[in-house]
Amino acid sequence: MVLAPLAGYTDLPFRAVVKKFGADVTVSEMISSNALVYKSQKTLKMIEKSPSEDPYIVQIAGNKVELVRDAVLLLNEVDGIDGIDLNCGCPAPKVFNHGSGSNLLGDLKKLEEILSTVKKYNKKQYTTAKVRIGVNEKIPVEIAKVVEACGVDFVSVHGRTRAGKYKAPVDYDAIKMMKEAVNIPVIANGDITDYDKAKKVLEHTKADGVMIGRAAVGKPWIFYQLKHGVEDIDDSLKREIILEHYDEVLKFHGEHGVIMFRKLLHSYSKGYKGAAEFRDIINRVSDEKIMRDMIENFF
Ligand SMILES: Cc1cc2nc3c(=O)[nH]c(=O)nc-3n(C[C@H](O)[C@H](O)[C@H](O)COP(=O)(O)O)c2cc1C
Repeated sequence: MVLAPLAGYTDLPFRAVVKKFGADVTVSEMISSNALVYKSQKTLKMIEKSPSEDPYIVQIAGNKVELVRDAVLLLNEVDGIDGIDLNCGCPAPKVFNHGSGSNLLGDLKKLEEILSTVKKYNKKQYTTAKVRIGVNEKIPVEIAKVVEACGVDFVSVHGRTRAGKYKAPVDYDAIKMMKEAVNIPVIANGDITDYDKAKKVLEHTKADGVMIGRAAVGKPWIFYQLKHGVEDIDDSLKREIILEHYDEVLKFHGEHGVIMFRKLLHSYSKGYKGAAEFRDIINRVSDEKIMRDMIENFF
């Protein structure tokens, strides 16, 4: 079970929590090779990991051999990273138009060149790739074969083309075809929202694991549910997970974390009785201890 990288969400506090409560592998959000090589403080902070994250994989994007090589060489020097993942799936125009992310799926020679570069220079234990099933056309088997030939340890696949964005139906048959075509582990991704769906996807695709993205936002206990095969989850466990998340946010962001956590509490309180009133109050709380008490009392 892998936490899918979600730019803007899968920061250290969130990853620490899902790891503690059930995810087997955590992956950082996508970091551009360019940003890494220029070592901006913000970028270096983005790749910091929590001690609970083991294994921890950093995801990079890029399409220039030298830049990708330098990004990998830099990551080699950072302790605690267990693997490097190449993003070959991002559909965002600003990534795609620079030839990175899912653009690599439209030029399999380029994909091979870049992924082989990661593999060649990576001194960490794992090299992995995150792909979609094509740009416009579905070519899952071709992609799987190229990725396997580069020597990756596993591939995770979001079962949509770039054109399918985040909306087209996820093609689990395509994931199944990829699994049949290669000998490396294949991790299925896309619209897996609960235990039942994960079970169905694993049965159908014969994939080696599942990767969860959006369903974990506001519901990090999904990993607990998947790990333990339960649909329902105790309110006390939810409270424990929310408090753990709060503590991690404070550790990572300092006292400003109290204000940052307001937004997260908006998601967490969805569906709870009195949520509107609760949100109204916490929107005005900036004291660490008072916020913690509010969380303990509400959930
Ligand atoms: C807001 C957002 C940010 C994302 N950022 C990344 C990213 O940084 N790297 C990546 O490989 N995929 C990224 N994805 C794609 C997810 O990892 C995942 O493949 C996709 O959302 C489908 O899985 P899901 O239905 O479980 O969310 C992002 C998706 C969303 C919605």
